[in-house]
This record gives sequence, C-alpha cells and structure tokens, in this order.
Amino acid sequence: MSISFRKLHSLFAGEVSSVDLRNIRDRDTLERIRTGMDEYAVLVFREQSLSIQDQLGFAQRLDGKLHTKTGVSALMKNRLGDVPVGDISNVGPDGKILPRDDRKRMYSLANRLWHTDGSFQDPAGRYSMLYACVLPPVRSDTQFADMRAAYDALDDEMKATLERLTAHHSIAYSRQTLGFTFSEEEQDNLKGAVHPMIRTNPRTKRRSVYVASHANRVIEWPIAEGRLLIWDLMDRATQPHLVYSHEWRPGDLVIWDNLATMHRGTPFDDAKYHRELRRVTTLDVAYEFESMPVSELA
Ligand SMILES: [Fe+2]
Repeated sequence: MSISFRKLHSLFAGEVSSVDLRNIRDRDTLERIRTGMDEYAVLVFREQSLSIQDQLGFAQRLDGKLHTKTGVSALMKNRLGDVPVGDISNVGPDGKILPRDDRKRMYSLANRLWHTDGSFQDPAGRYSMLYACVLPPVRSDTQFADMRAAYDALDDEMKATLERLTAHHSIAYSRQTLGFTFSEEEQDNLKGAVHPMIRTNPRTKRRSVYVASHANRVIEWPIAEGRLLIWDLMDRATQPHLVYSHEWRPGDLVIWDNLATMHRGTPFDDAKYHRELRRVTTLDVAYEFESMPVSELA
C-alpha cells in the first residue's frame, strides 16, 4: 500500500496519508512506516477505529515486543484488564471522572512533566502509540520536543562530554518532585534504570539527547551537578520553536519514538471533562523483522 507523509512542524512530526492500520500487514508498508518514524520521530494517523486487540496487533507488527508495565499499571490495577495497554484516562472502573484527590489522578498528573515513556526500565520504551478514544470539548494537547534537534544544537565539547555519561532514570523520582509518595514495597518495585545520555538510531545513525523528568542523576557526576545538567538540557530542548503541539481529534493514533523525543500532556479541566486514550509501548530491543515468519506478521 502506498502511503505518504505531510510535515506538521519545521523539524519533525508528520501526518500520514489516509490508511486503516487494522489492514496494514505487508512488510513493505510496515517498513515505510518505520522509515517515516526514523525521519519524523512523531507520526499522526487520522480516523482510526481500533479495538484494544487491533491496537496491540498493529504495535506488534510494527515493532515487535511490547512493554507490559510502563506507567500507572505498574502500581495499580489496570482498568482495561490484564493487557499491555496503558489507560491514559481520567476515569475510574465505573467510567466516572476521578475525584481531584484520587491516587491514580495524582499519579497521572506527572504526565504533564516532560518525559519519555519507560526510561525508568531496562529495556526502555521505544515507540509509544497513543489512540484517542474520548476527548474533551477543550484542547488537551500532547506536546513533543525533538531531542535530535536538541543534540544538533549542542557545541562539540558538550556532545563529547555527554557521549561519556549515563543517567539513572526513576519514575519514583519524577513523581516525588510533584509531592507523590510511595510505600516501601512500591519503592522496591521502582528501582529505575541506567541509560546513556546520548542515544543513536541504529538505522539512521542520528543521535539524540536522552534525558527527561525521570532522569534522576548523572551516574558519573555529583548529584547536584548532574541534575543541573539534566535540567539545562531539558530547557534547551523545549524551546518553543523545537516543540510540536498535537491537537487531538477523535480516532487519532499518534506514534512517537521515545529515544528521539520527549513529550508531555497539557493541562485542561480534568475534574470536569472526560478524556480517554489508550497507549501501547514497544520495547527498545533489536528486532529482526526480516526473519519473522509471515504468519507472525498477520
Ligand atoms: Fe508518556
């Protein structure tokens, strides 16, 4: 199937021509989407109609293995059931909007910090695929920052410095900065992970800066100095001209590369308006599509 891309921002983010992702199974089209991801880092597919199984199936066909616990489901029962699908919503099991002091709501507020999905785990998250099921009548954009452009803007000395550094990412840390508290048992389950501060796309060789609000400290540096470096890199990366703000439409599926971007939700009156999206995230592991039997792609 022939697909094309329309640029949504001067640096990155593309809208994909009309396509029904439920029917995308052939290797050439899947590879064209991966190539689009390499170039745009964020792709928008309009007017999709995806069940949970449809969304899971497409994610597996596109990028193989799925993250099972990347967000709130790591701590709380998933309203959507025992499936590797993140419930990015402000409703409870009864479908009603969560009260302002609900723990899931408090936890989810941290999505308004600039972050990358799954960086606190190893393997980290690679592609995230967020599908808009129910949207409020007001804007509730998701914003993206291009961390490849952030890398390109660094001077050579900083690039060389970052090449030698690693950072510890912890979801407990990012939540604690907002005053969220964890039990000892929860803390034990949230040890975090260490990743290089520069990531390289193995196909294009483009480098990106890999920091976000989960980045707790630079392993090789004193804590204070490392945090100042992380915050400075995030400030530089999120200047307005480097940010794409996605205004959601019902049926949108947006895919982003967590190794090349940061993202955040923007505030809206979530105690008043129902908002419901579903997210599937793939694992940052090498995956050999060429060796996959066709039956597994179907
Ligand atoms: Fe996220």
